[in-house]
Amino acid sequence: MYYTNLGFTGLQVSNLTLGTMAFGRWIDEKSSVAILDTAIDAGINLIDTANFYGKGQDEQFKYGTGECEEIIGRALQGRRDKVILATKVGLPMGENPNESGLSKFHIMREVENSLQRLQTDYIDLYQVHRFDNQTQLEETLSTLTNLVTQGKVRYIGCSNYAAWQIAKSCGISDLRGFEHFVSSQSQYNLLSREVESELVPYCLSENMGLLVYSPMARGMLSGKYTSRDDLPEGSRAAKGEQLIQNYFTDQNFMRVDAYKRLAIENEVNMSQFSLAWILNQPAVTSAIVGASNQSHITDAVQISDWKWSESLNHRVSSI
Ligand SMILES: NC(=O)c1ccc[n+]([C@@H]2O[C@H](COP(=O)([O-])OP(=O)(O)OC[C@H]3O[C@@H](n4cnc5c(N)ncnc54)[C@H](OP(=O)(O)O)[C@@H]3O)[C@@H](O)[C@H]2O)c1
Repeated sequence: MYYTNLGFTGLQVSNLTLGTMAFGRWIDEKSSVAILDTAIDAGINLIDTANFYGKGQDEQFKYGTGECEEIIGRALQGRRDKVILATKVGLPMGENPNESGLSKFHIMREVENSLQRLQTDYIDLYQVHRFDNQTQLEETLSTLTNLVTQGKVRYIGCSNYAAWQIAKSCGISDLRGFEHFVSSQSQYNLLSREVESELVPYCLSENMGLLVYSPMARGMLSGKYTSRDDLPEGSRAAKGEQLIQNYFTDQNFMRVDAYKRLAIENEVNMSQFSLAWILNQPAVTSAIVGASNQSHITDAVQISDWKWSESLNHRVSSI
């Protein structure tokens, strides 16, 4: 396993992160723990979760119910110190208007809930899940800084922020002596490259960690889908994943076909090809892999040190 600094911090993280969004939602506790064990045994030391993950992600619930953190908390008993635990706050955890967002009120309540569910005294990386335009950044950053001072949180990060929102946050932290976001968690893959215009140059310029989510476009880049009408049994799309539908365009199906031919030429499977590409992009610290079984971890680990050639870059760019 390859380890690198998380941005400008001294923290060493694996270039693969275990994504756990499916734990307690599509994957039961026994299978979730088996995936977690495989990841830890392979040397993956960063585990990404959120208070929101679990059954509450399903549309009929509308707010998070915490099952994913609970599963991780139980599974890590006796080995908590072996991993870097990253969780998130900000998405709705109830119907009340104060049960979501990045106010002092909500963060202080939710950090205690996450600590309890995760059965730990500290969170290594506490990430704000998305920008909250109803709360002043000063309020959010001063609250997060207090949590670091209290030892409940070690580093802070953001997710789904635009580059200007991160720059503004860092300016405020500089002026007011608050903690700085050390990482950005953002969607990035062969079919979704929006971050390349602003966020990637920002991360490179400021040496900020970039944790990439949906590196396989929620499964679209595994090559298992050949059309929007043919959903393989057991796949996330067949289980009702809504967001993958955004990837089901004619153009994307054609591009995946072309990537598949390159993958075959390079003697790797399509998931490995997609992952190798993202791991070789400048600024990427770690790819958050959303495994739904143990073999997805094994596949990912096999490719984690693959060096992408310049000539392959040219061929991918022409697709
Ligand atoms: N901050 C945010 O807003 C945000 C948003 C989304 C995700 N995340 C984080 O990022 C993590 C990963 O996101 P994601 O699940 O969308 O990532 P992803 O890696 O793009 O998609 C994961 C899916 O790809 C398929 N897959 C993975 N490896 C495979 C392999 N070797 N062979 C065949 N299929 C394979 C599986 O689909 P099947 O299950 O269909 O087999 C799996 O469920 C989440 O768990 C979460 O921690 C964060």
